[in-house]
Amino acid sequence: MCGIVGYVGPKQSSSLLIEGLKRLEYRGYDSSGIAVNTPQGIKVGKAIGRVRVMEEFIQTTGVFEGHAGIAHTRWATHGGPTQANAHPHTGKTKTGHTIAIVHNGIIENYIPLRKYLTDKGHVFESETDAEVLAKLIAELYDGDLEKAVQSALRDVRGAYAIAVLCDNEPHTIVAARKGSPLIVGIADSAYVVASDASAIIAHTSQVITLDDYQVVRLCAGVKDKVGDGGPWAVDFRTTTIDNVCVTQEVTKLEFDLEQIELGGYKHFMFKEIMEQPEAIRNCLRGRIDHREGRVVLGGLSGLARDLVRARRFIISAQGTAYHAGMIGEYLLEDLAKIPARCEYASEFRYRNPIIEEGTVAIAVSQSGETADTLAALHEAKDRGAISLGVVNSVGSTISRETDAGVYLHVGPEIGVASTKAFVGQVAVLTLISLYLGKRRFLSDEVVRSYLKQLEALPDMVSRVLEQSDHIKKCVEQCIDRDNWLFLGRGYNYPVAIEGALKLKEISYIHAEGMPAAEMKHGPIALIDKGMPVVFVATKGSQYEKVISNIEEVRARGGRILAVATEGDDNIHQYADAVFTVPDIAEPLQPMLTVVPLQILAYHAAVLRGHDVDKPRNLAKSVTVE
Ligand code: G6P
Repeated sequence: MCGIVGYVGPKQSSSLLIEGLKRLEYRGYDSSGIAVNTPQGIKVGKAIGRVRVMEEFIQTTGVFEGHAGIAHTRWATHGGPTQANAHPHTGKTKTGHTIAIVHNGIIENYIPLRKYLTDKGHVFESETDAEVLAKLIAELYDGDLEKAVQSALRDVRGAYAIAVLCDNEPHTIVAARKGSPLIVGIADSAYVVASDASAIIAHTSQVITLDDYQVVRLCAGVKDKVGDGGPWAVDFRTTTIDNVCVTQEVTKLEFDLEQIELGGYKHFMFKEIMEQPEAIRNCLRGRIDHREGRVVLGGLSGLARDLVRARRFIISAQGTAYHAGMIGEYLLEDLAKIPARCEYASEFRYRNPIIEEGTVAIAVSQSGETADTLAALHEAKDRGAISLGVVNSVGSTISRETDAGVYLHVGPEIGVASTKAFVGQVAVLTLISLYLGKRRFLSDEVVRSYLKQLEALPDMVSRVLEQSDHIKKCVEQCIDRDNWLFLGRGYNYPVAIEGALKLKEISYIHAEGMPAAEMKHGPIALIDKGMPVVFVATKGSQYEKVISNIEEVRARGGRILAVATEGDDNIHQYADAVFTVPDIAEPLQPMLTVVPLQILAYHAAVLRGHDVDKPRNLAKSVTVE
């Protein structure tokens, strides 16, 4: 989704901005743009398509010299992906100065504001809501950019993260947020502002995270104003939109540059699939106490009594996180014996949900910024639920707005198609279920057995990863097929849906996932000769039933690809291709069975020649509802 980066400091801003935009590419975008405060005023450049087009434009024109600049990758919401709609947008003040702005989010009252500003004589060049904000700040500017931004934001409804320049204040960036993330990196004599920490980490790990309705003014300039030789003076201050000063805590980013680079892999998605053993190790680290045979979750300790007594859990999430939440529903009921249900956050928040006393709402999110998940969380909290976050991104909005939570600690996830975060989400939901189960009905012996198997999980995942080439060969044989089915039962039903989503997301092949038994109630009509049908057919309580479902597909000529348990020789008589996973207790199976499906989707996309890390139309973090 849209990305923001801004820089003010001793270096030439344009090259840093381009580098920052490249780090934001993974979020998904369709156009980009840059504005730099140059000695000749604010220069704006925009391009459709990849950031490298923008980079070439900057290099050839050579007019983007200046120490303060802002840049943006746009994922179209209001108005198509055109040059005119790309950010930055500009406005002219009454005194003839230029304001430039980049914006993430949606200004809901942009139509009346646009009319008001048009009546005032402003001429609009784009269809965007962001341009309204640029013109509004310009309209309100009377020599102080911070003040103009504050007053403009008091007039807008909706969500925003913005960074603003004014040519009358050449060494200043003013930034603000409400409902869309924004972070300020404090580097040597410079500030980097960005919507995502990955654009900051190359410069500094010291950051401040803005809260809703906060405005930050970042100044960095040559003290004597003589030239570029320094010394540079830096200064920032944070206020609310009502101009109340705020003291900001400086925190440290918890990852390094290496983690967000490819490190020899061709694609982030494959790197992240391969990183899963280590990701699980990091997620489990310090959370299993073998001596006591229990799970240790420091983030929940303050609420432990309430959680153990909870009457119901509601999990809300979107996309892949929703599929992890579905597994969480099974885990909480099975291991902790607490009624649980998982809902699409976007549906939950608008259906007037009933929240009884003793309800715990869990928001599951890799980014911690998904707008629908955040809104569902607010809804549940407003109706009296205790809130928990199962989040990867440290310091993200969801992690800050929940009563307690458990981080995934799987490291930054760059691939748009979520892989290691899914496994981390399921691992954390498993830990939470065992944490509560141990305090409720699970025997010590059973808990110890699960903990032992959890610890063995990373090595088991490595064994699945070794089959990558085999999976690729099997995919090659059906790569021309445009319709696939993914079927599973019990814990592996959400895995089947996740497998179908992975294939759709990056290979653009139509795929559906569903409970294996449901196939008979309609989708079986789709099956014709050679149609690939992927079954999760591991050993467990429903194995025989799944085999019967396989027979039903085979009888109609479907091509069976089965995820099966190591040592299951029986499966070969039913399946055209078999991918194996080590034997493990059923509640822990999804963390293994999803892995071959991730690899399958990856190879399918590569074989079809798609850009795996930049799938069309998709965004890594969806910050609009
Ligand atoms: C987007 C991403 C998905 C992700 C979903 C939820 O659609 O493309 O990969 O699963 O958002 O994101 P979250 O950050 O809340 O887990």
